[in-house]
Amino acid sequence: MRSDGIPASVVRRRIAAEMDDDVPWNRVLNSICTEPHPLGVEMAAAAAHTNLGDVRIFRGSKRIERKAVQLLLSLLGNPEGSGNLVSGGTEANLIAMLVARESARARGRLTDRPEVVVSSTVHFSFTKVFGLLGLTPVVVPVDAALRLPADEVARHLNEHTIAVVATAGSSEFGVVDAVDAIARAVSAHEVHLHVDAATGGFIIPFARELGHDLPQFDFSVDGVDSITIDPHKYGLVSVPAGAILFRGAEDAGKFAFDSFFIDTPTHHTFLGTRPGGAAVATYAVLEHLGRSGFLSITRTNYEVTAHLVAGLRAAGYTLFIEPELNIVVVRMPNASKISERLESWGWIVSTSKRFVETLRLVVARHVTREMVDAFIPVLDRARKETEAEVAVE
Ligand SMILES: Cc1ncc(COP(=O)(O)O)c(C=O)c1O
Repeated sequence: MRSDGIPASVVRRRIAAEMDDDVPWNRVLNSICTEPHPLGVEMAAAAAHTNLGDVRIFRGSKRIERKAVQLLLSLLGNPEGSGNLVSGGTEANLIAMLVARESARARGRLTDRPEVVVSSTVHFSFTKVFGLLGLTPVVVPVDAALRLPADEVARHLNEHTIAVVATAGSSEFGVVDAVDAIARAVSAHEVHLHVDAATGGFIIPFARELGHDLPQFDFSVDGVDSITIDPHKYGLVSVPAGAILFRGAEDAGKFAFDSFFIDTPTHHTFLGTRPGGAAVATYAVLEHLGRSGFLSITRTNYEVTAHLVAGLRAAGYTLFIEPELNIVVVRMPNASKISERLESWGWIVSTSKRFVETLRLVVARHVTREMVDAFIPVLDRARKETEAEVAVE
């Protein structure tokens, strides 16, 4: 740090110059996070000074967090439940697994080798969580439809199992697990069923209402104990805004840490000091858009996805799977090299090699038909140039 400060105008200029290098949204096809809603950005800025870790000071902001959680619980079919806003899907999944472990302990079911049954495509945040908590993952390969097979889940339950994780919208393929079948498989066991709907949570409820044939995944499915849903993904809220929701009114309280300041209330999140701006922005965007706003955004999202799929097919590309949500996975030899070439031209896509080489395109809320029309010829050029280069090597 310098001994004397720099004028604000200079600081602004420097920051603007660096941020100018960030890729503009209209070239981004890999991101689940999107351009946040302006009202959320405005409200987050208004609450930039708030800290939900100290609810004696920020009691109004805390009330807004409770209202935002209530809106999310209602969206997912359980207004009587409990939950908290957190920093994102990773923290939400961490808290879900902590609560699962504490529930197993309370039932006298916690063994020296607690296991969690997950699918082979579960989000990598669970790898972090299992490492931190000393939980052993029992990885079940996904079936031909890339879903966690319920019968295989049943086969892997034993006295060590404390939880099963289903995914409602896998990050890689946008596939929704058959949560009801998994719930039935788990129902006879005292095992916590967590649904990671970090990506699907803000799409599936509206897509189902629009008539898309997607499995139900929320608390209306008997046996679902907790759900991760991230406003900072398809909820149009600025980062960091995640949420962990529980079926029981008391469940969120099972993860509880008292502060050594006796007059500061118990913490129910991993972060201590945490941004009230995220809570305020979440509340603002959910209230402002309402169901009709999200329905309309989801309708557009599916239309743009269909436009991308049609354009890719017309250009001769083959999909790896039929998209259920807004993630389009294209078979693409040399995908990494093509992605690098696209990046050098300013376009960001992602790739996967899990089954075959593929390009993964995320039709986030900022992706438009015009953007798709601009992208496909660029992709074609990147593919042809890459193929020519590979042929020479
Ligand atoms: C299904 C799923 N779960 C969890 C996460 C982790 O969320 P975050 O990056 O907000 O911690 C993601 C992120 O993309 C995700 O797609």
